Amino acid sequence: MTFKEKYQDKVVQIDKLLMRYCPAKEGHQSDIMDAMEYNLLAGGKRIRPMLMQEVYHLFGGTEDMIEPFMAAIEMIHTYSLVHDDLPAMDNDDYRRGRKTTHIVYGEDMAILTGDALLNYAFETASTAFDLAPEKSFVIGKALQVLSKKAGIYGMIGGQVVDVKSTGKRIDAETLDFIYKLKTAALIEASMMIGAILAGASDEEVKVVEKIAEKVGLSFQIQDDILDVESTAEVLGKPIHSDEKNDKMTYVTWKGLKEATKVVEQMSKEAVSMLESLHPSDDFLKQLLLYLIHREK
Ligand code: IPE
Ligand code: IPE
Ligand code: MG
Ligand code: MG
Ligand code: MG
Repeated sequence: MTFKEKYQDKVVQIDKLLMRYCPAKEGHQSDIMDAMEYNLLAGGKRIRPMLMQEVYHLFGGTEDMIEPFMAAIEMIHTYSLVHDDLPAMDNDDYRRGRKTTHIVYGEDMAILTGDALLNYAFETASTAFDLAPEKSFVIGKALQVLSKKAGIYGMIGGQVVDVKSTGKRIDAETLDFIYKLKTAALIEASMMIGAILAGASDEEVKVVEKIAEKVGLSFQIQDDILDVESTAEVLGKPIHSDEKNDKMTYVTWKGLKEATKVVEQMSKEAVSMLESLHPSDDFLKQLLLYLIHREK
């Protein structure tokens, strides 16, 4: 199989897993389950659960307790997108090729859908205790990382500074801070949880966090590049969203050419760190290289 075929195959498997972990649409509140599913099963590159699973395998993990965590990280990421698109934030009308939640279900329901996905992520991740009670310590550690990287020291913190910096010229340090938190943090959580659940040492988890930081920063810079270079059809979300919202990005700061170079350089640094950690994992390495030139 080529890399692309393997990648597609993994996406299909992750989609199936998410289907299994979607809450049943029942009860008076079934509208919320409907809106959760509308977002979760809309497609998406599934990079975070994929990275989590690959790192888990890299460190020798074989059990199914990784699955609720794979579903949980995608739920948290999806909630972050639902809220990011709200009129009060980026005010975007399309996501993953579909009308955004607030357009279809109303703003009140979109806020609740984000809240529901966030909470259900932790409900889901904690079912790992039932799957592997003897692994309670590492599962607890993984939950600790998940909550921290999603919260005020992670994704939410980054979104706060992003929102507060809108329309302003910020310095390089602030821009890096935003990217590290709003985007890299959930990628760090993904890869760290894979390592933690597989029983990696604290030192190994720290190296994984560093690798993931580089992956996350370059992932966001590439997202900024695509926002000016791609099309809405390919991305499944509007282009020029950053310009519309007067956001300073790596592209407005350094220009397209330089931004492209940074993505390439940072991703290659991540790959060589990964190689020194573990020389053999081909798919993971190829995935990091693929992300440099990804088209959506
Ligand atoms: C979009 O994330 C938001 C960013 C952090 C750049 P993805 O590009 O992973 O979005 P999906 O999951 O594929 O829709
Ligand atoms: C958002 O960054 C990152 C999140 C935490 C959701 P963007 O605002 O650039 O993400 P897109 O372009 O809307 O996917
Ligand atoms: Mg945003
Ligand atoms: Mg946005
Ligand atoms: Mg963007």
